[in-house]
Amino acid sequence: MNIRAVSCDVIYVGASDRRISLFENIFPLENGVSYNSYVILDEKTALIDTADESVSGVFLDNLAEALNGRKLDYIVVNHMEPDHASTLERVFLLYPQAKIVGTAKAKGMFSRFFDTDIEDSFIVAKEGDSLSLGKHNLHFIMAPMVHWPEVMVTYDSTDKILFSADAFGAFGALDALFNDEINIEKDYLDEARRYYFNIVGKYGNQVMSLLNKASTLDIQYICPLHGIIWRNNIGYFVEKYKTWGSYLFEEKGVVIVYGSIYGNTANAANILANMLRINGVKNVIVYDASKTDVSYILSECYKYSHIIFAAATYNAGIFSKVETLLLDLKAHAFQNRIVGIMENGSWAATSGKLMKEMLISMKKINILEPTVTINSAVKKAEIEQITVLAQAIVASLNEIV
Ligand code: FEO
Repeated sequence: MNIRAVSCDVIYVGASDRRISLFENIFPLENGVSYNSYVILDEKTALIDTADESVSGVFLDNLAEALNGRKLDYIVVNHMEPDHASTLERVFLLYPQAKIVGTAKAKGMFSRFFDTDIEDSFIVAKEGDSLSLGKHNLHFIMAPMVHWPEVMVTYDSTDKILFSADAFGAFGALDALFNDEINIEKDYLDEARRYYFNIVGKYGNQVMSLLNKASTLDIQYICPLHGIIWRNNIGYFVEKYKTWGSYLFEEKGVVIVYGSIYGNTANAANILANMLRINGVKNVIVYDASKTDVSYILSECYKYSHIIFAAATYNAGIFSKVETLLLDLKAHAFQNRIVGIMENGSWAATSGKLMKEMLISMKKINILEPTVTINSAVKKAEIEQITVLAQAIVASLNEIV
């Protein structure tokens, strides 16, 4: 069976799906995703969240194996989104004596997703409520909008485990279960960041509020609903979350994103990248918005301090792949960055003005001058403009800490 002890009484019963290609039917997954679920064995037994329908076979087998013939007393529902709760009704029907514990909003959602009457089986948890399983005491902490309004997290004060719902998760199937079994920086962090910003990035204030509440707890394990379990070096990942939740950049560097029809805007973007490199800028990353999925570029825009948007004019607007990125950034509360603009147009360049309008509608966006205007292909006049923009970027990089 695919179960594994997390601590003496806590068992991992989740499962990974490596066949899924799009998470939420929108975000590309190169290596699947895990749906984590946990059983606590005590005088009473508890299941912490269920799992996605796609892994229901393995998950239900794991659950039965972990219970080993015991009855299930509680099903704690931290999050009602179907990637964790699509098997909830099925689990309840298999273990009908179990009480379901969740927020009032989770109870309402259950009735909207399922038909089974749970009125007499649902215990509503509120901020600060606790539940004793015997030796283990579970404490419920509300975490609305991390990532849905009904979300709470559960703290086991006996084993000092934070069951953190979507928070502290990541894309990727689990080849290992614990953080110390993998190389986090090399093999995990990028997908954890992409997960964070695309799934909960919009809700930075709510993430910071949860972090503040969690800061009073002694946490030895973080057990999220996706990704690996943290059992040491927890401060490292919490610091990442503080940076991400407060919309600070992680590294000084320049992301150049271009949308180019015939390669001329791409050429301008590459010339700028080359100038920055020659001027000693260490992190310069160039993306073709037509080639790389927007979820990856969005994540990089949050990682680095400077973003340059380069787009051809298309249908009198912004080349659609770059426009999509800007709309996505706006939807995810993108803020607090230094940006530059490069536009192209063979007869009426408007993409620069339109990108500027979108960018100034976001919070704390500092737009560097000049906006570079390319009239079809890069010529001497355009080289001069790109040179001035490169100088402005280098000066700006030198100003920030
Ligand atoms: Fe992994 Fe918001 O569900």
